[in-house]
Amino acid sequence: MSMKTLSIALFATAATLSVPSAQAAGDLNLICSADVVICEQLQGDFEAKHDIKVNMVRLSSGESYAKIRAESRNPKTDIWWGGTGDPHLQAAAEGLTQEYKSEMLDELHDWARKQAESSGYKTVGVYAGALGWGYNTDIFKDKGYKVPACWADLLNPELKGEIQVANPNSSGTAYTALASLVQIMGEDEAFDYLKELNSNISQYTKSGSAPVKAAARGETGVGIVFLHDAVAQAASGFPVKSVAPCEGTGYEIGSMSIVEGSRNLENAKIWYDWALTPEVQSRMKEAKSFQLPSNKSAEIPEEAPRFEDIKLIDYDFDKYGNPDTRKALLERWDSEIGAIAN
Ligand code: G6P
Repeated sequence: MSMKTLSIALFATAATLSVPSAQAAGDLNLICSADVVICEQLQGDFEAKHDIKVNMVRLSSGESYAKIRAESRNPKTDIWWGGTGDPHLQAAAEGLTQEYKSEMLDELHDWARKQAESSGYKTVGVYAGALGWGYNTDIFKDKGYKVPACWADLLNPELKGEIQVANPNSSGTAYTALASLVQIMGEDEAFDYLKELNSNISQYTKSGSAPVKAAARGETGVGIVFLHDAVAQAASGFPVKSVAPCEGTGYEIGSMSIVEGSRNLENAKIWYDWALTPEVQSRMKEAKSFQLPSNKSAEIPEEAPRFEDIKLIDYDFDKYGNPDTRKALLERWDSEIGAIAN
């Protein structure tokens, strides 16, 4: 090969590498904050449809927020899918995520669109689910415990060491629990309640759904989790029943955000639009992910706990997704509950 042909060949290769092809290609760096089974299903389905490699890490919602914040000068993540909405809202308010007005927004339920509007289109709702707990029916039967129907019943001394819940710093589920109790009882009363509840807690886990997985395996009596996570264990054949608390409860708007400074922005937008389609959301149930989907045309799984059947509070997402409120509540949790936790 002459020098001239060689340089033409090199030039041609460089041109192919630098010019984006009509069909999107390359990588997408994803943080997924829901259960690993749905995260892997989404990764596989997306890769099967697009010529884009998805590098996925599963992290809890609070951990994901912390990672995106820590990397803000040198972003390594393109898109953050799933996990509770509050840390997504905090990231939006702090400029860690970027505006994107997807054409799919018109197809979404009001609660999902509202999440987008209130954040300046820096996040959007992908699913919703209400908080409660799951209990192991075998343990309750064997030990003769009274099934807790209300938040107040979780303080029953017979449940000492029988309850697990996650740590609200790492877990969005546990932050939703904290913010819900504050909204139901008032802040001081909620912290008094949590101090009392601490006597019955055996472990504050990192991930939000871990407590009901432990209950399913018979390692604990009760796990405070999203109701759909308890239902998922029952659907897998474990002796778990779910309870929606009698005083009322909060809920999550599982969200999705594109990271500010994303290096694969076009691919992030392709994922974003794709993840809002009814086809993708209707398939979530195959991974036993029984949340309520945000696309109005998506199929609602038969197993999904329906909001109409649950006493829901009017959860104030603007307030509890606000950086100042979230930071203050977590600091108070660390000093008053984390400090006395075993
Ligand atoms: C589970 C639920 C999701 C929720 C997520 C939050 O995966 O199924 O609906 O968004 O937990 O996880 P985290 O570990 O942050 O509580």
